Amino acid sequence: MRGVAQKRLSPEVWAYVEGGAGEERTLEENRAAFHRWCLRPRQLAGIRTVDLRTTLLGTAVSSPVYVSPTAYQGLVHPTAEAGTARGAGAAGVLAMFSTLSSLSLEAIAAAAPSGPKWFQLYLQPEFQTTQELIERAEKAGYTALVLTVDAPVLGPRDRQTRDGVAIRSPVPIGNGPRILPPARAPELRNGAYEFPEDATVTWEILGQLREVTSLPLVVKGILTAEDARRAVDAGARAVIVSNHGGRQLDGAMTGLEAVPEVVEAVGAEAEVYMDGGVRRGSDVLTALALGAKAVGIGRPVLWALAAGGGAGVERLLSLLNLELAVSMMLAGRRSLTEIDRGLVASRDD
Ligand code: FNR
Ligand code: LAC
Repeated sequence: MRGVAQKRLSPEVWAYVEGGAGEERTLEENRAAFHRWCLRPRQLAGIRTVDLRTTLLGTAVSSPVYVSPTAYQGLVHPTAEAGTARGAGAAGVLAMFSTLSSLSLEAIAAAAPSGPKWFQLYLQPEFQTTQELIERAEKAGYTALVLTVDAPVLGPRDRQTRDGVAIRSPVPIGNGPRILPPARAPELRNGAYEFPEDATVTWEILGQLREVTSLPLVVKGILTAEDARRAVDAGARAVIVSNHGGRQLDGAMTGLEAVPEVVEAVGAEAEVYMDGGVRRGSDVLTALALGAKAVGIGRPVLWALAAGGGAGVERLLSLLNLELAVSMMLAGRRSLTEIDRGLVASRDD
């Protein structure tokens, strides 16, 4: 699917999809991190059926794999987020949709009314605008709010700057002309770099959000036990351990590396998910064995959407689920609850 997508997309859009921040060290590590773990399979477990079903904050899903939010899906396929929503809905997989969707959040929900959907929030300069987005998401049937905290400003996207000039001109945002992407670069003022006011947010924002919505809050973009603690103390019901697909702080640790400390810090009180570099059923096994309850996939969904629209997304998700089921069979685990820490060992020890 990746190969087909690359042929279909312009070099600018390809740079937007594939690129990371800076030297792309973190982007590369997102894959490499999985290779530093190996699996310890158990044999002759007498398994006849493998069950991938679980719940994410009470939402029933067919698998612990979910669709991560990615902006501007209209750049990769004319059906945009509607295709993703239909594909994920058909697969019974949870899909998260970005504030920066090409279609409106209402149109996305209408495309797959019964598919499980969460709304990913980028805070807007005016809290009133943020509140309106949340009210719209509630009304349209999104069942959780995912606040992304790792993008107060966009990371330095060198590859996009090199290859992606076209994307730097404004891309239409389906949720309305007032909705803005994360803030621009800072200005040098009196010798110090000053960031836009709306980039200046603290953990208090979670309390403010809880005052205006009863949707469960998920915080996306946590990489340390300390921040996981703060998020949960401020009312988050789940955290997503993520470096934003290597697109923000180049050199940051990977989601997979951070999962154990986050699970240790908050795993008893909140659900812990991870994303970044998940490409195979065996990757899902590794992340779950380290304590994640679910894993998100970003770029592969865009490849699948580009290659085959909604049917492509459904095919991708069913292939991943099948691979996970076969990996579990080969590892001697019949259900997600049987995926324990003993299933993985570090290659470096
Ligand atoms: C993203 N990501 C992202 N995250 C978010 O919270 N809101 C967003 O609008 C976007 N937009 C976006 C666009 C594109 C093109 C990519 C590749 C990623 C990050 C995304 O949710 C997720 O964290 C990563 O994509 C996971 O890594 P993989 O699966 O792409 O390796
Ligand atoms: C990105 C933003 C839009 O990663 O989240 O491109």
